[in-house]
Amino acid sequence: MQALKPEEFLNQLIATREGFWEKMNAERKSYGADKPLSAAVVLRRLQFGVVMERKAAEVTAPWVSKIPDLDLQQPMSEYVVNELKHTSILRKRITELNGDPDALWNGPLKELKELWDFHSSLGSLCELIASVQFGHEEFFPRTSKSFIERVMPIDPTTASIYRDTLLADEAGHEWIAPEILRRYATDAESQQKCLEALKKGCELFGRAIQSFNQSMPR
Ligand SMILES: [Fe+2]
Ligand SMILES: [Fe+2]
Repeated sequence: MQALKPEEFLNQLIATREGFWEKMNAERKSYGADKPLSAAVVLRRLQFGVVMERKAAEVTAPWVSKIPDLDLQQPMSEYVVNELKHTSILRKRITELNGDPDALWNGPLKELKELWDFHSSLGSLCELIASVQFGHEEFFPRTSKSFIERVMPIDPTTASIYRDTLLADEAGHEWIAPEILRRYATDAESQQKCLEALKKGCELFGRAIQSFNQSMPR
């Protein structure tokens, strides 16, 4: 098996990811992920965010020390800091809304736990990046866009947290994952492993989202 050129490899990952997105997006609509929001649903969504942000930081942190080039190591360490900062912001907002900030952190849904257990089991930096940052984290701005529109009329403070902080930081770190994959996943075997990791990560993410939506207070 021959290694793909970096751009061909990235295009392969993108095509796979977008295939999952199409499927997932159709499913989201079918279980009502785009319905109007209640205060209880907003709270639950924030609690889900706490898990996603904190786990992204936790599974990535051990790999920061393994990044060979400083021009990627430094922004990746800032990524970890940002995700933990987002965790704190979300926890604070939940407290203001009189909710339990760690409700899902302490009692995660089975599918959500499976997703993050998979990420922490990955054996290389590139597989982790393919699966988390280049994989389902790319969906975050898309699902947030619809969330912001719907939360705006009932809770503008939460809408602003998503729009002005979480999404703004997200846009700032989107370039790092493709650059890591371009630079370090250069042989056929690691490219193949990255593709498998992305597929599995997207699949588990889709299941976690489904289970989350189905567990939503009505
Ligand atoms: Fe974040
Ligand atoms: Fe992020």
